[in-house]
Amino acid sequence: MLCNVKRIIVISVFAIAFVANATAGEVEVLHWWTSGGEAAAVQELQKMLQKEGHTWKDFAVAGGAGANAMTALKSRAVSGNPPTAAQVKGPQIQEWAQLGVLTNIDDVAQAEGWDTLVPRVVADIMKYEGHWVAVPVNVHRINWMWCNPAVFKKAGAQYPRTWDDFFAACDKIKQAGFIPVAFGGQPWQEATVWESIVAGVGGPGFYQQALVEADEQALASSTMVEALKIFKKIKPFTDKNAPGRDWNLATAMVIKGEAAMQFMGDWAKGEFTAAGKVPGKDYDALPAPGTMDVFLFNVDSFIMFEVKDPAAKAAQKAMARLILSPDFQVAFNVNKGSIPVRSGISEAPFDAVAVASMTAFEATASYGGLLPSMAHEMAVSPAVRGAMFDVITNFYNSDMPAADAAQKLAAAVREAKM
Ligand code: GAL
Repeated sequence: MLCNVKRIIVISVFAIAFVANATAGEVEVLHWWTSGGEAAAVQELQKMLQKEGHTWKDFAVAGGAGANAMTALKSRAVSGNPPTAAQVKGPQIQEWAQLGVLTNIDDVAQAEGWDTLVPRVVADIMKYEGHWVAVPVNVHRINWMWCNPAVFKKAGAQYPRTWDDFFAACDKIKQAGFIPVAFGGQPWQEATVWESIVAGVGGPGFYQQALVEADEQALASSTMVEALKIFKKIKPFTDKNAPGRDWNLATAMVIKGEAAMQFMGDWAKGEFTAAGKVPGKDYDALPAPGTMDVFLFNVDSFIMFEVKDPAAKAAQKAMARLILSPDFQVAFNVNKGSIPVRSGISEAPFDAVAVASMTAFEATASYGGLLPSMAHEMAVSPAVRGAMFDVITNFYNSDMPAADAAQKLAAAVREAKM
């Protein structure tokens, strides 16, 4: 009798294992989320997939904003061996789809109701010829300024709302022996700071013309010259080790109280969260001066490559489904510093900065203040973005006059468009 029971148990265990194996596959996922906060966030996806019996093969390529990851992806794709999914954003999604290497995930989208859950402006970026080929993960706001209140207090400085206030605060902080601005001298970080200044100086309408429409007159205008001057004026308030510094090391300077401020998208909040810091107490997030009415958005997403193996396909579909599930949207975004990309998620698990971001997302959308980030691949083609990056980094790292830089911007963009 006992023997029979044992046999039944053994058979059942095998049967369960067989069923699980029949649908369990591997996903190889390329991403660049390697900082403390980023890694904690992406692990949530790994855990959820593993819970469903799938295997996660990590293809992490370090390097902020993903330039190294994109190089790695291209070489794998060229050799005919792309991963299952890759972190790719904005107009680049269309470029990959045009190559005919992406898979259509309309079935998952339909079953999960993505068309009603995901804002139209985001859904359009994820579709190619009307079909879903990518899955959005989150919404980041770029134009934030991360502040250490203790440093401000020690320096007797006030949080700035205008650029004049900002430089007055910088003087006081420097005199008190702190680094006013934690800065990472890499082209994408320079462009991230610059685009917030453009929005702050010129307002949403000017940002739209200059960095979304890449209008040559706007790029060469006196408003742009003013924005460039402010950008360059920040340099003396950074430290000598800024060139080449990774963004998360700059955030760490604010966390540790070595520096007062950092201009960075809200993935920086992921670092504060990972360090156990609390907004409103240990740190504060303010819109960059003059950008109260602007939300520069950056949506992360995964493109899905064509895979043949049925088990791998099942795992890929599970990944797509899980990314937009309410549980993942909370677990991931709480760690990442971003906000959910789909509707119907409670604000309750999120901190005050995320709630402020959610409110600003809705409000700015109603009057044209919700604008795509140029630096983070939401606004212009890769060629135009590259042209802007070159001029901005040359300008910031040389003694080029601002008026020349504005002319060069217009000329480089004109050439890139041809
Ligand atoms: C952005 C990306 C963010 C964050 C950041 C730093 O482009 O959208 O998710 O990872 O780069 O690497």
